[in-house]
Amino acid sequence: MSFVKVAKTGDISPGTMKHVEIAGKELCIANVGGKFYAIGDRCGHENASLARGKLEGTHVVCPMHASKFDVTTGKKVAGPVLELAGIAKKFSGCPEPVRKEMGAMFEGIAAAQSSIKTYDVPSYDVKTEGMDILVNV
Ligand code: FES
Repeated sequence: MSFVKVAKTGDISPGTMKHVEIAGKELCIANVGGKFYAIGDRCGHENASLARGKLEGTHVVCPMHASKFDVTTGKKVAGPVLELAGIAKKFSGCPEPVRKEMGAMFEGIAAAQSSIKTYDVPSYDVKTEGMDILVNV
C-alpha cells in the first residue's frame, strides 16, 4: 500500500463527495468540514455508488435504499430502508390480474431483499499535501 494522489482539494467542496477509481479500487472521497476521508464507493448492501448519495455530517446515505456508513471508519451505522412490500398497495386501482401479478412480483423481490446482509465498507488513510489529496490504497 502507498499513498496515491486522487484529487485536488478544490475538487471536493465541504459537504460533498467524489467517486474516484484508482489502483483497481472504487473510492468515495468525502469532505467533512474541510477534512477529507476515503471509503470504498460500493455500498455494502447492493453495490450502489455511495458518492452519488448524500453526506450528512460524517454519515453517507446510500442513494438506493438509504443505508448509512460513517466516512471516518467505513462502518455501517444504519441498514437499508426496504419498502417494496408496501408498493403492492399502489396498484390497488389496477385491474385484478395486473394487481395480483405486480403484487406477487414485488412481494417476491421484498422477500429476496430481506435476506441480503449489509456489510461495512473499507476505509483508507487520507492525507493532503499542498492542494493534493492522497489516499493510501
Ligand atoms: S444499495 Fe445501498 S442501501 Fe441498498
